[in-house]
Amino acid sequence: MRLENKTVLVTGATSGIGEVTAVELTRLGARVLVVGRNPERAGRVVKKIEDQGGAAEVLTADLTSQAEIRRMAQEVKERVSQLDVLVNNAGAFFNRFQRTPDGLESTFALNHLSYFLLSALLLPLLKKSPSARIVNVSSMAHMTHHLDFGDLQMEKHYSGWTAYGRSKLCNLYFTYELARRLKGSSVTVNALHPGFVATNFGRADNSLVSAVFGLLQLAAKSPQEGACTSIFLAASKAVEGKTGGYYVDCRPVRSSEISYDEGIARKLWSVSEKLTGLG
Ligand SMILES: NC(=O)c1ccc[n+]([C@@H]2O[C@H](COP(=O)([O-])OP(=O)(O)OC[C@H]3O[C@@H](n4cnc5c(N)ncnc54)[C@H](OP(=O)(O)O)[C@@H]3O)[C@@H](O)[C@H]2O)c1
Repeated sequence: MRLENKTVLVTGATSGIGEVTAVELTRLGARVLVVGRNPERAGRVVKKIEDQGGAAEVLTADLTSQAEIRRMAQEVKERVSQLDVLVNNAGAFFNRFQRTPDGLESTFALNHLSYFLLSALLLPLLKKSPSARIVNVSSMAHMTHHLDFGDLQMEKHYSGWTAYGRSKLCNLYFTYELARRLKGSSVTVNALHPGFVATNFGRADNSLVSAVFGLLQLAAKSPQEGACTSIFLAASKAVEGKTGGYYVDCRPVRSSEISYDEGIARKLWSVSEKLTGLG
């Protein structure tokens, strides 16, 4: 696993799984674009990387805002001539229904639409690489869920856990559909479940939910262990040319049966295109 002369972009690289992914990929020789919504937190990660002799740069964007995603993607285009790996990792759990600046439900917007829009905007740069990879951090939490196109953003009945599980199912529909659309190109795309990992996930406020996540995380993997499959999919020769897979513990596994429904994947693609102004 060597990444000399490769440029990698990691979203949500200011904490948890994304931070370890960014740091470890620079140890393998990559130049990493560290994306965070908070410049100080992103700067801290870049300093940590530079102190270890690695190369990294800060990019800031609140990924719940499509204008911010577009501005950040434009900045990437101005800074690099090709992108070799895109790790869509930023994600969150929203206990209550919240709207983004675009008027969309926050879980769906951040966990799914940001992956969709950023990948689309950076695809021309990824296609300039002789062999590029997109890595989408999903979750086993998708397993018991299905999408409801009558209320895709759960405006009628919101539950944080259901919204989260559905958004992680969206990551799989997106991964599998993108892999089909990129067949024959130099870009592969795979998804993963990192395991249950002790991070800042679910800890955004002082609510009971945050306390419950904190307790559960006593039994969780470390962020170092949790980042293994992201690093493997971003860098390993073992997955060279492999696309459209779902990985747990660095091994391909099956996701839920419904996640392989191509009709649903196409429908979600079309809705996502409209909601991001790409369609
Ligand atoms: N932890 C687990 O057990 C687990 C299990 C399955 C899947 N996952 C997935 O793993 C991924 C990483 O999560 P984690 O566990 O490492 O959680 P984390 O420690 O909370 O890290 C999440 C990252 O996403 C960033 N982020 C959150 N909202 C953002 C926004 N609006 N704009 C830009 N960046 C934003 C955070 O930035 P700040 O530093 O500014 O907050 C942070 O860098 C997520 O996609 C999650 O769904 C986690």
